[in-house]
Formats: sequence, C-alpha cells, structure tokens
Amino acid sequence: MSSSSSSLLALPTEFAAKIGLRALQSNLISDFLVRIGTRTLLGTRLKEIYKSTGEEQQNELMRFAQSLKEMPIAVNTEDANTQHYEVPSEFFKLVLGKHLKYSSALFPKPTTTLDEGEEAMLELYCERAQLEDGQAVLDLGCGWGSLSLFLAQKYPQSQVTGVSNSETQKAFIDGEAQKRGLTNLTIITCDINSFEAGKRFNRVLSIEMFEHLKNYQKLLKKVASWMEPNGLLFIHIFTHKLAAYHFENKDETDWMTRNFFSGGTMPADTLLLYFQDDVSIENHWKVNGKNYAKTSEEWLKKMDANLKRIRTIFAATYGEKEVTKWIVNWRTFFIAVAELFAYNDGEEWGGDSFRPRPLGIFVILMLSRSTMPYLIDEASLLSLYWSLGLL
Ligand SMILES: C[S@@+](CC[C@H](N)C(=O)[O-])C[C@H]1O[C@@H](n2cnc3c(N)ncnc32)[C@H](O)[C@@H]1O
Repeated sequence: MSSSSSSLLALPTEFAAKIGLRALQSNLISDFLVRIGTRTLLGTRLKEIYKSTGEEQQNELMRFAQSLKEMPIAVNTEDANTQHYEVPSEFFKLVLGKHLKYSSALFPKPTTTLDEGEEAMLELYCERAQLEDGQAVLDLGCGWGSLSLFLAQKYPQSQVTGVSNSETQKAFIDGEAQKRGLTNLTIITCDINSFEAGKRFNRVLSIEMFEHLKNYQKLLKKVASWMEPNGLLFIHIFTHKLAAYHFENKDETDWMTRNFFSGGTMPADTLLLYFQDDVSIENHWKVNGKNYAKTSEEWLKKMDANLKRIRTIFAATYGEKEVTKWIVNWRTFFIAVAELFAYNDGEEWGGDSFRPRPLGIFVILMLSRSTMPYLIDEASLLSLYWSLGLL
C-alpha cells in the first residue's frame, strides 16, 4: 500500500479516536467500555510488538538497545513533572497507600491491603538489596519518599539520600522527616540528566524510575562511579516479557503518552542485560504483573472514595473548567495501568517466559565491576544451587 493511501486510511481512525476521546473526557463512557477499549488497544499493541520469528524479535530488541545508547539519559523531563510529579502531594495522599508508594505493591494473599502490600514490597527490596543498618544509601527517583522515609526509619544508623526532579516531592518528604524526627535523610531536587552524587554509597536503589529514562548506559556509568567497591545497585522496573518500545505521541490513540507518559519507555525484561558496561547483573527476580494490576485497582477505589476532596484539589491545579476532564484522565490512567498488568493473567507485561512460576514486574540486582572476583564465586554457587534444584 502506498504511503499516501495508508495515511488516507488513517484519517477515519484518527477521527474516531478524537470523537471517542472527547466523549471519554466529558465523562460519557462507562468504566466497562473503557476497560474493553483498553484491552483492545493492548491487543493491537501486542500485534505491533510481536515479530514473526525469534530472530526478528531479538534483532529488533538489539536495535532498540543500540538506539537508547545514542539518546540523552532522560527526555521530556518537564512533561513528566507536569503530568505527575508536580501534581499536589495532597492528591497522592488521598489515592496511594500510607507510604505513598507510587509504584507496584506486593499482594502475597488475597486479603492483603494496599498499606500492607506497600510494606511487603518495601521489605522485599530491603532483603533483595541486602540492606543493613549503617549503610550509605541512595534512592534514585524517590517519589514521595516511600522508600527513602521507610529506610531512614528502619535503619537509624544509615544515611539515606533521595533524588527526584520534583520540588513538591522534596517539600513533602522534608515535612514528613521533620514530623517523624528523622535526621538521617537528605532529599535533593535535580534532573537525573545532570545529577552528580559527589560521594559514594554502599547501596543505590531505584524504584520505577528507569521507565522514564532512555540512555541506561550513560546513567549506569555514573552510578557505578558513585558506588563503594563492594556496593550493590538494585533496580525495580516494569517490563514487557519480550519487547521494548517507546511511549510515542504519534496520534490521538496515544492517549497514555500524551497525558501521562511523555518520554517514557517500556523496557523488555532482558533489556538491561545489554547495558552491563559498568555494572554486572548478579541476580534477576520477577513478580507477577497482577500485583501491579491490584495496586492500580486500589488507587482507583481510593480515588472514587475521595472524589469530593479531589475535585477541590484539581480545581486549584488544572482550573475549574478542567476538573471533570482530569478526574476522567486520572481514573482512566489507573484503569489502563490495571488492565495492562492484568493482561494474560499478569504474564504479558512483566511475565518471565523462562521460569515456571507466574511472575511479572522484574527486579535486578547488580554489582559494580570492581567486585567481579567475588561475583564469579557467587555465580558458580548460584549454578550449583540451581543444579541441585535449590533455586
Ligand atoms: C514512578 S515514580 C516512583 C517513585 C518512587 N520510587 C516510588 O516507588 O514511590 C518515578 C520517580 O522518578 C522521578 N523522575 C522521573 N524522571 C526524572 C528525572 N528526569 N530526573 C529525576 N527524577 C526523575 C519522579 O520525580 C518520581 O519521583
């Protein structure tokens, strides 16, 4: 098909999408239809990202990884701030759990609440990043302090530094630290593109910030230089099980990119394996995507329970006339996140196709290169455990 005829065909689709979005933002479409529409778009996305052969799939991934190495560390950083990170903390206090964790919680049991789920995930990070009291810890992309405040409280002898590019996040965390009498926590406001730590850390953790980034090679080079020789880096990100892609703003159907994820990246679960120039991946776990789906469903429930107060916050943030539109946008965002991670029983976005257990969002533990001799022993030990069936 010629490019002119395919762009002609795209016109009615774009028109329909425009009308659909108008109806959505005027609150004329039920949640049921939003969910059906989201699942349809996810099906279309899968058709785009699945290649017909494994060879093609891998070539595409390698092309993607290479292209990231030619980009800045992060792009559209101001957009991400307007879309999420400078929205008043009051809104997030009404919607998130008690730790204000703006990332997946963990739901080990059907009865686990959002507050318990946030805590369960934070504890899991501590265990997997081998955290101990007395360490110097850096939290990259600290949000509203879910991890930074948790660590400063749990490890009173540790010095915790949190970094994000949002002024309102810093103001919120500083206020909380003061209320709780925490003196071992420093929050720095800085764009990750230009951030320089100026000191070394025993642990560097980053929870769901890498999805906002592009050039992992550039950042990991810097991070490795901020780590003590035996330091550990721990990164938690969401992924698709095979393909990586950019959140692109091409047309009206790219609603998520336009309103919530400009400059975002969906990493494939193996993508970081191709960025080991300065760090070496020692371990890799997965958590089933349904944990994120449930987290977002809980955010939606809390939003609905607090709509009256949220209306007031949104009137001050977006202007009186835009309140309904932004209520719908945020509700649709939470529904879309829930549907994405629940797709194919949590196995698609976040699922690990190499392991028998149902898994999802993945976590990676890395060591700096300077710890290689220790790493080799660790690796042989791991393979011994594996062959003995202990892993
Ligand atoms: C999805 S939130 C996760 C927050 C927190 N880690 C949590 O789990 O609750 C992503 C965080 O990365 C930060 N971030 C995104 N892009 C950034 C950039 N270019 N520079 C610095 N921080 C950034 C955001 O401000 C936010 O704090």
